[in-house]
Amino acid sequence: MPVYLDNHATTRVDPRVVTAMLPYFDELFGNAASINHSYGTEAAGAVAEARRQIAGLLNAPPETIVFTSGGTESNNLALKGVLAGARPGSHLIVCAAEHRSVLDPARRLARRGCELTIVPVDRYGQVDPQSVADAIRPGTALVSAMLANNEVGTINPVAEIAAVCRAHNVPVHCDAVQAIGKISVDVVALGADLISLSAHKLYGPKGTGALYVRDGDPPIRIEPLLDGGGHERRLRSGTLAVPLIVGFGEACRLAREVLSQEAAEIGTLRDRLWDGFCERLSGIALNGHPTDRLPGNLNVSFAGVDGEQLMNGLSQIAVSSGSACTSADPEPSHVLRAMGVPESLSKASLRFGLGRFNTAADVDLAIEHVAEVVERLRQHSSTH
Ligand SMILES: Cc1ncc(COP(=O)(O)O)c(C=O)c1O
Repeated sequence: MPVYLDNHATTRVDPRVVTAMLPYFDELFGNAASINHSYGTEAAGAVAEARRQIAGLLNAPPETIVFTSGGTESNNLALKGVLAGARPGSHLIVCAAEHRSVLDPARRLARRGCELTIVPVDRYGQVDPQSVADAIRPGTALVSAMLANNEVGTINPVAEIAAVCRAHNVPVHCDAVQAIGKISVDVVALGADLISLSAHKLYGPKGTGALYVRDGDPPIRIEPLLDGGGHERRLRSGTLAVPLIVGFGEACRLAREVLSQEAAEIGTLRDRLWDGFCERLSGIALNGHPTDRLPGNLNVSFAGVDGEQLMNGLSQIAVSSGSACTSADPEPSHVLRAMGVPESLSKASLRFGLGRFNTAADVDLAIEHVAEVVERLRQHSSTH
């Protein structure tokens, strides 16, 4: 198997998370809503503990955590839920480099009559809080700004954006799916009213996530996407995925324990990768912010090579291409385009995502392998 360097797409479930989950598939299989017997109360207790663990990582009260099926659902719930609770024709602000699970619901809402402003990003993929302030107007119902970008790792000044929104009494949603477990996310310091999370990006299982919904005054007006049994404070009906939620909780507990040291170690590996490319290759460019970035992210354009040939040549490592997003319909990266990266370079870019299980040997292999393939392709194109 190739060396896995695609930790922004997903992460391997930590073995300690697997161990925590296993009993909840068989002997502790109860429904967390069936609390009239011990099967149910056992499951409800495990969910409550997971809620505390997740909230603990965010410095949030446990009751603010609403379980969902993952980041996509959390983003949909935030945008569609708040707009459904607002006056018809209300105004929504999102940023140009957001994940598709924010941009696509925003565009759907616009087709249904909501007013939409897409705020641009700078050449690093960062949003200027002033552009958000300029876009806010009477009738703005929500601003959505991601914390860390999934392609280039750039970290947005969300606390400043949230302060701007608060000054105008506009709620703010933050997609923190790529940020939690990688950098410190404190709901008080961040000041966002709604925060999307997903377990599979921090060594937890796929198919579970959460939306943090701030408590207190003024209350957040949000309508559910799913009606049914009234679970999760009536915001998300459906039987809770107890084993996955237990895994999500354990992943957050572990992240809280190791975050700062792990971030430093992964950052060192990422720098080793970049330094190695710089030593071996000319004509390369870093995409994303030079310092305000996730520790594990390295997005690089390789001038003079065809992106598809580059991806096809890389048999020894698993990475993502800048030309095709991870969705079902591949297209040039809207993030790199929004940053002003020319299409030829954006197509010839790779996203490396380093994570908990990577070693210096993985990085050294990647440097050699990528340098060799890039040099070969460049030679080939210069002789043709
Ligand atoms: C920034 C960001 N938001 C949302 C999502 C969607 O999360 P999920 O895969 O849990 O639906 C992802 C996943 O790629 C992401 O990177």
